[in-house]
Amino acid sequence: MIVLGIETSCDETGIGLYCSERGLLADGLYSQVEIHARYGGVIPELASRDHVRKTLPLIREVLAEAELSLSEIDGIAYTAGPGLVGALLVGASVGRALAAGLDVPALGVHHMEGHLLAPLLENAARGDDSPVSRGSDRVGRDADGRQSRDAPRKELRFPFLALLVSGGHSQLVRADGIGRYQMLGESLDDAAGEAFDKVAKMLGLPYPGGPHLARLAQRGDPGRFEFPRPMTKRPGLEFSFSGLKTHVRTVIAEQRESEGELGDQTRADIARAFEEAMVDTLTIKCRRAIRQTGLESLVIAGGVSANLRLRQVLERQLGADTVYYAAPRYCTDNGAMIAYAGSRRLLAGERDGLEIQVRPRWPLESLPAI
Ligand code: KG4
Ligand code: ZN
Repeated sequence: MIVLGIETSCDETGIGLYCSERGLLADGLYSQVEIHARYGGVIPELASRDHVRKTLPLIREVLAEAELSLSEIDGIAYTAGPGLVGALLVGASVGRALAAGLDVPALGVHHMEGHLLAPLLENAARGDDSPVSRGSDRVGRDADGRQSRDAPRKELRFPFLALLVSGGHSQLVRADGIGRYQMLGESLDDAAGEAFDKVAKMLGLPYPGGPHLARLAQRGDPGRFEFPRPMTKRPGLEFSFSGLKTHVRTVIAEQRESEGELGDQTRADIARAFEEAMVDTLTIKCRRAIRQTGLESLVIAGGVSANLRLRQVLERQLGADTVYYAAPRYCTDNGAMIAYAGSRRLLAGERDGLEIQVRPRWPLESLPAI
């Protein structure tokens, strides 16, 4: 089954073509970063308008790359939520209309399920839950151009623990199968990616700041500042990053008082301390969740899972064979993950009606099991 995936939940137009027999055929991404950068954040109306401009041309490009025609598509999956309502409506309308025109089934996919299943995506054809990336020695590069392992070394199978860390979510989820998710802990305030972006902004870095901050942190001295690891002393799997963010703001203000405009090294040292605090906090919670659940595999997914230090620390502390993640381009928003998640559900017989429906808020646990 060949599924066209359409992702338009935020500021990236992503298109993917996934074949259940042959794996990922092609995918393309059009990023709106330049449009929103001058405002320091995503402007929803501008995002919607740009998805309108880009979705159809990108579908054509990806089809051409895969040397396929529209008539060869067997199903269409589009992100139906969570996300910005106007942006979601663009992908949902295009996807639903195209499916009606082609007389193929359409399905609205949950964006975070797309992220969660992304580590399964890059593997060859399969009929069950298992990716086949055993013994892979492919090496990829993270957003900062540093080398990282591209795919897990052994098969990932349900059940597993998933750390979903994106611009809008920080969640620890127990995954027993597709649609069989139990929320173990969530952020009480900012999402991990949001915290990266806000601190990056304080340091004068461009939007979205996560990858820029990670790059700056490479030059930072880890011993100069020690930032708090929020909510790690008390039990539980909840996260809270707003206190850490405030702490950074205070340190920046103090440094400004003593040294005037922040020097490059001080900015790098603060970035380093912040990244270490984030990574440490996420690692402590993952270790705790693994201990509590007895699960043996951890998937990290969502934009922040592209962070090289997070991958390294988790692998060091939990064991390289425990930790699974997608190549960096499939950690951040993309159409391939939507095509893949959609293909799994469409193959199981799920379909949407003719109405166009999006869900800006949509609890992951409410998804049906397949
Ligand atoms: O999953 P994603 O592309 O979009 C959402 O669903 O939100 O995640 C985007 C988030 C942004 O906050 C971005 O700054 C962050 O992921 N991010 C990173 C890195 N790459 C992307 N954060 C830290 N380190 C990175 N290398
Ligand atoms: Zn996302």
